Amino acid sequence: MAINADEFRAAMGSWASGVTIITSREGEQIHGMTVSDFSGVSLEPPLVLVCASKTSVTTGLIERGRCFGVNVLRAEQSALSNKFASKKDEFRRFEGVATYRAKTGAPLLEDALVNLDCRLVALHDAGDHVLCVGEIEEARIAEGEPLVYFRGRYGRFEPAG
Ligand SMILES: Cc1cc2nc3c(=O)[nH]c(=O)nc-3n(C[C@H](O)[C@H](O)[C@H](O)COP(=O)(O)O)c2cc1C
Repeated sequence: MAINADEFRAAMGSWASGVTIITSREGEQIHGMTVSDFSGVSLEPPLVLVCASKTSVTTGLIERGRCFGVNVLRAEQSALSNKFASKKDEFRRFEGVATYRAKTGAPLLEDALVNLDCRLVALHDAGDHVLCVGEIEEARIAEGEPLVYFRGRYGRFEPAG
């Protein structure tokens, strides 16, 4: 028998992750949302995947715009994570946030720890989510520490030794 929703959330919430903001563009419309279900997939070619809710506005834009940007957040950017996850003022998320237009057209955040500009190469149906697979066209990596997410709380990376 399948596990229930609480068990699923408790198990998945115990998988510590970084936090990204996934952005996209179709024509003049841009949008983005906070995503922790992000992973590297392949080195040759360089592929990543994002697990995106079928009900999210961002997912629709990725499907139509055929591109997405991955912005890995810094330790100091938990407020930005909450802003891009909140439905309050959801179409004003980019206000006050400096972005640049990447090669694919995706709007990338100037002050992220890492920016990846991705061309959408595949979409895989996965229950109530869709797996968006992108090929990295360009990467920008900066100095700094990542924002970490674990059991519903933000934290910082602490080296073990
Ligand atoms: C820390 C954190 C991680 C999240 N990870 C994901 C995720 O991996 N996939 C997803 O679809 N939504 C994720 N969300 C929820 C979306 O950010 C949220 O539903 C958002 O409002 C969707 O925006 P949109 O419908 O305007 O695109 C996450 C939220 C938070 C706070």
